[in-house]
Amino acid sequence: MYAFAPDPALSKPDLYRELAEAAGALVAGEPDPVANMANAAALVWQFVDRLNWAGFYRMVDGGLVLGPFQGKPACIRIPLGQGVCGAAAARGETQLVPDVHAFAGHIACDAASRSELVVPVIRDGQVIAVIDLDSPEPARFDSEDAAGIELLASAIAAAI
Ligand code: SME
Repeated sequence: MYAFAPDPALSKPDLYRELAEAAGALVAGEPDPVANMANAAALVWQFVDRLNWAGFYRMVDGGLVLGPFQGKPACIRIPLGQGVCGAAAARGETQLVPDVHAFAGHIACDAASRSELVVPVIRDGQVIAVIDLDSPEPARFDSEDAAGIELLASAIAAAI
């Protein structure tokens, strides 16, 4: 068992720094990407509140395929460029979507989702995966959440 407990008094940047450090510590020395993504998804679920889904889609043969996650069962394959995840992967850029209903092409895996944050994981200049966070609250995510999940993506990019 690993006991990583976020301190509720932490500022958001500090919370994400702790999350990235915990993830870095968990993946250190472990070569299995599935195990590392599974633990990273569990940490996001534990550290970040007001989520209904958190996890990975991996780049496989030019498209996205569902990876380890927390939340309800989700769409398995997402073509590059489609949905919020496909946009993040195609552009190699974080997508911060305050209202998923206003995002053309949003893929509704869980009808409860109202806002979404998707961060590409980049290794050697290539998008190898995306980290997807969904919330039932509109506008749940801001630039600090985006920066925090980008920090997590950097911390685990070599290990997934
Ligand atoms: N909403 C995402 C699909 C993945 S689920 O939210 C888990 C999208 O539009 O890409």
